[in-house]
Amino acid sequence: MTTVLDSHHADVAIHGGSLELVVTRVSLEADDVISVTLADAAGRKLPDWRPGAHLELVLPSGLLRQYSLCGDSRDTFSYTVAVLREAGGRGGSRELHDTGLVGKRLRVNGPRNHFELVPSRRHVFIAGGIGVTPILAMVRSLADDASWSLHYGGRTASSMAFVTELSAIGGPRVSLVPQDERGLLDVDAILADADESTAVYCCGPAPLLAAVTDAHARLAPDASLHIERFAASSPGSGTPAAAGDDKPVEVLLRRSGLTLNVAPDRSILDAIRDVVPGMPYSCTEGYCGSCEVAVLEGTPDHRDEILTPQERERGTTMFPCVSRALSEQLVLDI
Ligand code: FES
Repeated sequence: MTTVLDSHHADVAIHGGSLELVVTRVSLEADDVISVTLADAAGRKLPDWRPGAHLELVLPSGLLRQYSLCGDSRDTFSYTVAVLREAGGRGGSRELHDTGLVGKRLRVNGPRNHFELVPSRRHVFIAGGIGVTPILAMVRSLADDASWSLHYGGRTASSMAFVTELSAIGGPRVSLVPQDERGLLDVDAILADADESTAVYCCGPAPLLAAVTDAHARLAPDASLHIERFAASSPGSGTPAAAGDDKPVEVLLRRSGLTLNVAPDRSILDAIRDVVPGMPYSCTEGYCGSCEVAVLEGTPDHRDEILTPQERERGTTMFPCVSRALSEQLVLDI
């Protein structure tokens, strides 16, 4: 951690991955989409991030919401996220749209990245609606002569954010598909020639993710597939934290020096929050990443929708809102 105060070019202090930033700008980017730019109040440098990363915003009401960073990752003094007003959502996006945010201080957690851009000979990006945000940061970071294509679908042209910037970056590599004019993205055609030299990235609503996952399995199993979810893949998933045949698990919190005996009908997160009330969490369904914790000993039973098979195999991190243990004891870095 670097903590240097009162210097414009010093790094901002990080307290457990949490920052207090001030909203410097709010812009309307498309129908019902705003971008929100945050910076340190004293103008200090912010922690680095790479495309695919997200921030967790602590809203004035206390709600926690995750938003992908869509600004330029080389800009080390501000973060920008984009927020779609979701009329049927749980209230977080309405709060951000309806509050006069400029000048307000917001606590943010992160940046964290579960959607890393891997090097590849060729990248194929598939974005639905507000899912374009992490992909905007990705295509901006690629070399001018890189081989990539972006297939961006939205309800209508006026609902699609960042189209001018995307077209300026990618020119003919960017295909815009407003549904009311051109129908849905033709996922089978997009993936038809994806081979082992191709990395496919998809972010968007659940039906698009399902279509891409299905087409990948049928048509392009040798390509690597990277998916970012904004919501559980189906209502109620990840796997429930307490399934009928679960066993009790002993959880040792190494830094707190506490041992918890977690009954089969409780999540490990709930048990942790009994003794560590500030433990972050948001979705409680294993897709947002808020409750991530490092595993020091023991074998997690991963039930989240975030980790890759390789990350599951490594077993060094887990999401205790849904995941449990294969070993009798887990030792966590809390
Ligand atoms: S609270 Fe969202 S992954 Fe655990």
